[in-house]
Amino acid sequence: MTGAAPSLRTDGLFTIDFARIPLEPFSEMPPELRTERFFRVNELTNAYVDARTRDVVAQMGVSAPVAADRSNVWQWLQRKLACAGKLTPGAVELRRLILEELPSLGPALDLIDAAFEGYPGFLRGERTGSSILFDPGAPELWNSYFSNANPLYAAGNILAAHAAALALDDQGGVKSSLRILEVGAGCGSAAEALIARLAGRIESYRLTDISPGFLRKARERLDVLEAAGPIARTYQLLDLNRPSSTWRLPALEVDLIHAVNVLHSVRDVVATLGGLGELLAPGGLLVLGECIRPARGQPVHPEFVFQLLDEFRNVTLDPLTRPEPGFLDAASWRASLEQAGFHGIRFVPDFVKAVAAYPAHSLGAITARRD
Ligand SMILES: C[S@@+](CC[C@H](N)C(=O)[O-])C[C@H]1O[C@@H](n2cnc3c(N)ncnc32)[C@H](O)[C@@H]1O
Repeated sequence: MTGAAPSLRTDGLFTIDFARIPLEPFSEMPPELRTERFFRVNELTNAYVDARTRDVVAQMGVSAPVAADRSNVWQWLQRKLACAGKLTPGAVELRRLILEELPSLGPALDLIDAAFEGYPGFLRGERTGSSILFDPGAPELWNSYFSNANPLYAAGNILAAHAAALALDDQGGVKSSLRILEVGAGCGSAAEALIARLAGRIESYRLTDISPGFLRKARERLDVLEAAGPIARTYQLLDLNRPSSTWRLPALEVDLIHAVNVLHSVRDVVATLGGLGELLAPGGLLVLGECIRPARGQPVHPEFVFQLLDEFRNVTLDPLTRPEPGFLDAASWRASLEQAGFHGIRFVPDFVKAVAAYPAHSLGAITARRD
């Protein structure tokens, strides 16, 4: 990476010298992500997760009474600590330094802190992940996290929207009346980014999610988004873990399916992908935005929060398509998509090259087709 910013007080925490990251493997990323800021956001969040992981392990003590069904999470914390780079300052000081540099990372740190507070009770089997992460007393936690004002979350939305545009351009003869379906649309931040990227080319946009509260937020956001004005918008509750025959969606009527940070949490990823494939019109496009594991078994920082949730951990495993719970590695995504009948699978950026250049890289978009 060239054009490095002047050294800041947090530079000593990073796993890599930004000036040494080659740009070429990231050439397919949009310009706003080919920046030092993109890497700093990832590194700062990772350093904070390491500090909080250290705190959880210290609080539990060496002979922690961990509930049997939570032992894999306890092992994850040990593995994360084993791969943690430099010793970070304590979390309180680190939080201060990070916010001094990037105040917009506040919602990401708040979510990590909420998880941290709940970890001891969770590990002992006294609390569920959803009681920790969906505390009615903190309703803004997710709204501020699933937001394009949160640079950590926005990067995935920008990348997925960019990959969608690249794939549509590749198709030639650009269609200007796209019918879009989004699954796991949450609070609508990925929809905001896609609408901004494909302005003027969308006819209809159906947003679906399992959570009525999130969908309500999405509707509020899109109602005030000027670019969404001319688009016919519908909102529908949809549980991707239910058989696709119950989804109440007509087959072959969608040009683009958008799914940002959701498919890694479905129980049977190949079955869900297969169901989505049946909804696509001939030549239709599937666009996934995902945290992708740089290598099998390698912990990634978003797991600190998301592995508290049952649906993240309790999934159908398969040695080829789903070798471990939570986030998939690139080879497993490819195998899952192929088994579900997709072809023309493309990773943006080229994931193998990106990880070779920056071993902590874990953000990807995947596009694929079903004829
Ligand atoms: C990481 S969030 C995505 C947030 C969204 N991209 C946004 O911009 O706000 C994952 C979303 O998937 C939804 N989800 C989780 N499991 C699901 C399922 N089985 N079926 C449908 N949606 C699900 C969650 O409710 C959540 O809104």
